[in-house]
Amino acid sequence: MSDQQAQKQAAAKAALSYIEDNMILGVGTGSTVNCLIELLPTLKLAGAVASSKVTEDKLRALGIEIVDLNFAGTLDVYIDGADEVNEHLQLIKGGGGALTREKIVAAASNKFVCMVDASKSVETLGRAFPVPIEVLPQARSYVARQLAKLGGEPVYREDFVTDYGNVILDTYDLDVSDPVALEKELNNIVGVVCNGIFAANQADVLLKASSNGVETLI
Ligand code: 5RP
Repeated sequence: MSDQQAQKQAAAKAALSYIEDNMILGVGTGSTVNCLIELLPTLKLAGAVASSKVTEDKLRALGIEIVDLNFAGTLDVYIDGADEVNEHLQLIKGGGGALTREKIVAAASNKFVCMVDASKSVETLGRAFPVPIEVLPQARSYVARQLAKLGGEPVYREDFVTDYGNVILDTYDLDVSDPVALEKELNNIVGVVCNGIFAANQADVLLKASSNGVETLI
């Protein structure tokens, strides 16, 4: 097993301490979350709200009941991974294309627990990883032109459609030095459904794994 995979597993194991019996758990998407999902059958969950169809299928296959967020009320805990995280626990997410549903479930939860391996920690968001932006299909070119005006270089994610039937523009070279301001500015472009900056509602707890173990940051 690679060191990175071992770190993902260690972070997922650490996340278990945030899950209580009979809870409806918010469950994110991605390879780190998959490590967590494998551990869930050992727990007594009332159900789970999934942040993607992929996660929904994995949870169902393990016999975990899927709950519609509209009937779940406010969740106590949402657990997910991230593509990048800075020291303020602000994130870039959406590498798996589930950013909109992830942002909704995170917003509807009291506590967002984020699990990362060491490779995800950065000083400034958006330098290495592009900002994924979910866009209504008809607005793709218009939004791409607006992103270019902001200095971004949008790349259309080929052969990918989100769970909501939209497209993704992975946008390089945006200035993410003020993540809260940029998140808002991107949301204001007509045709943008959601962007992958999680700064207005950042993680509440970061479980940061490295070869030395898992550090908890709040
Ligand atoms: C999916 C996400 C994931 O949380 C992010 O891509 C991290 O994935 P992984 O755990 O596979 O590194 O935002 O939309």
